[in-house]
Amino acid sequence: MLSVKQLNQYYGAAHTLRGVSLSLEKGQCLALLGRNGVGKTTLLKCLMGVLPVAGGEVYFDDVDITRMKPHERARAGIAYVPQGREIFARLTVEENLRMGMAVKPGRHASAIRQDVFALFPVLKDMLHRRGGDLSGGQQQQLAIARALLADPKLIFFDEPTEGIQPSIIKDIERVIRLLRERGDMAILLCEQYFDFAHALADKFIVLSRGEVVAAGAHAQMAGDDVKRHLAV
Ligand SMILES: Nc1ncnc2c1ncn2[C@@H]1O[C@H](COP(=O)(O)OP(=O)(O)OP(=O)(O)O)[C@@H](O)[C@H]1O
Ligand SMILES: [Mg+2]
Repeated sequence: MLSVKQLNQYYGAAHTLRGVSLSLEKGQCLALLGRNGVGKTTLLKCLMGVLPVAGGEVYFDDVDITRMKPHERARAGIAYVPQGREIFARLTVEENLRMGMAVKPGRHASAIRQDVFALFPVLKDMLHRRGGDLSGGQQQQLAIARALLADPKLIFFDEPTEGIQPSIIKDIERVIRLLRERGDMAILLCEQYFDFAHALADKFIVLSRGEVVAAGAHAQMAGDDVKRHLAV
């Protein structure tokens, strides 16, 4: 479903992504691990088309999307739950959710699908509250629900556990597991929280200074080779 070949990116003179390759199939969860500043968010922004790439190719469902605009990628079925959530603080929960639906033409006026409230019941109770009034964990749930309302085939999570209290981390883990078990989506999960990623991933890659330094299946994930690149 997603195939990334030899991606390179620069911020000015800084070579931020160095020949990154990865692949991800429908129904799989790929964990992208690495410490602060190794290039995880940069990679997701390149895959979302928010940042241009200097070289390499990105294929989605066998279509070359390397030069496709972000809104075209969203419409094609790629959703992004950004680091720090980036919900609209002054809009209500309902309006934030409708932003996710607006990706598909003609959809913005229809009813919000009830299944997102089954996943995140708290959002139903808070529909008319402003996004900015929600706790960090609730905002993260809102950001995930907003992404799901675009009906993605491929979803990127950028450190969904960052700054979130343990009880809500459990809720988020349950939802990502459910999405994975449904089998109709591919999931790319950026994390520094190893146990969370380990609980969900079918396979992993580790980035260090913009380079893939380790990769493998779930069974190899708990090895010293991986932990060495995560410990501070
Ligand atoms: N807009 C930018 N301009 C210049 N350099 C940047 C910019 N954004 C990030 N960087 C640098 O690029 C490198 C990779 O950053 P990136 O945000 O992708 O890392 P990350 O793995 O997501 O880190 P974190 O875990 O802290 O979110 C870092 O050295 C960072 O300082
Ligand atoms: Mg980041």
